[in-house]
Amino acid sequence: MPVPEPALVVAGALVENGRLLLARRASPPELAGLWELPGGKVDPGETPEDALVRELREELGIEVTVGEPVGVDVALSATLTLRAYAVTRFAGTATALEHEALRWVDAADLRGVDLVPADAAWLPDLAALL
Ligand code: C5P
Repeated sequence: MPVPEPALVVAGALVENGRLLLARRASPPELAGLWELPGGKVDPGETPEDALVRELREELGIEVTVGEPVGVDVALSATLTLRAYAVTRFAGTATALEHEALRWVDAADLRGVDLVPADAAWLPDLAALL
């Protein structure tokens, strides 16, 4: 039997003025209150880049250009993989449309933030962007 490719979740690392944008999850209960790179699932037939543009429009109300991947892909489960990309904002002001809160962190702040477990794997890569 063919083994299906894991579905992909994409997340955006937006850095402006030496600060990285993080978003606080409202759900599910085990992740609520933790901070993440905003993003979401790639829909069937959608490229990862197009999915990230759509997700950041829906979640933050911003328009972005998607750049290079940041860090390595993280396995969320046997069927779900998480990938981060560097993004650049060209329109809109980031607003928490689906998260509890947004926060811009510098390198010192980043070390003390409670990230969702999967995103914590990228800490060195994210710090290198700041
Ligand atoms: O945000 P959403 O619920 O669509 O994300 C799908 C899955 O990807 C969830 O399991 C979520 O915890 C995970 N995720 C993550 N880190 C992110 C974005 C999503 O671990 N930055």
